[in-house]
Amino acid sequence: MDTCHDSLAPLFHNNRAWAAGMRAADPDFFTRLVGQQNPRWLWIGCSDSRVPANQIIGLDPGEVFVHRNVANLVQPGDLNCMSMLQFAVEVLRVEHVIVCGHYDCGGVRAALEDSAHGLVDYWIWSIREMRTRHAAGLAGLAGRQLRDTLCELNIIEQVERLAKSKILREAWERDWPVQVHGLVYRLADGLIQDLGVSLDRSVTQVERVRAAEQACLARGQAQSE
Ligand code: CO
Repeated sequence: MDTCHDSLAPLFHNNRAWAAGMRAADPDFFTRLVGQQNPRWLWIGCSDSRVPANQIIGLDPGEVFVHRNVANLVQPGDLNCMSMLQFAVEVLRVEHVIVCGHYDCGGVRAALEDSAHGLVDYWIWSIREMRTRHAAGLAGLAGRQLRDTLCELNIIEQVERLAKSKILREAWERDWPVQVHGLVYRLADGLIQDLGVSLDRSVTQVERVRAAEQACLARGQAQSE
């Protein structure tokens, strides 16, 4: 216990100070949260320590439901992600599902390398597949332009997968007006940008996804010139 406490001492110190600050600003803050969580947003982001959901979008505990994994992937076979999604949409009834990836993502970078990385190669398999699928649009791109463009394409792909999921399909069939969005975060300036791929039950989803992909590839080509 003592050893643990020593090595984690800064964390305990920060925690005490944070909780006291929250109580000072709002004496009922924690009491309210014990009752229930009522987030309007679901954030699906990368595990990268430089992309902390709550801080980036300035939300307090209770305001955003968060799921993070390497390279912000939504894989239908991922029981963790799909259970989380079902709970967020069907029980918490979030109004917005946000996929927020980021430039300089290590997962995307690894998918571009020829060398083997171990287990994670299975996880990021779909990013390699995506690169092959978009080979024509990515032709001529290299270095940062290629990585940035793949980061954006990867986010758009996850938005499409969410829209195709049984969970979102059924929510839309029940007329629940949940929307899915694709955002990208830039480590260099701390800003998020909209990738123009927001989907709900009213839009022609496939067309919007393809248009967002084309816009993304065009941006990449423009930057490489
Ligand atoms: Co990342």
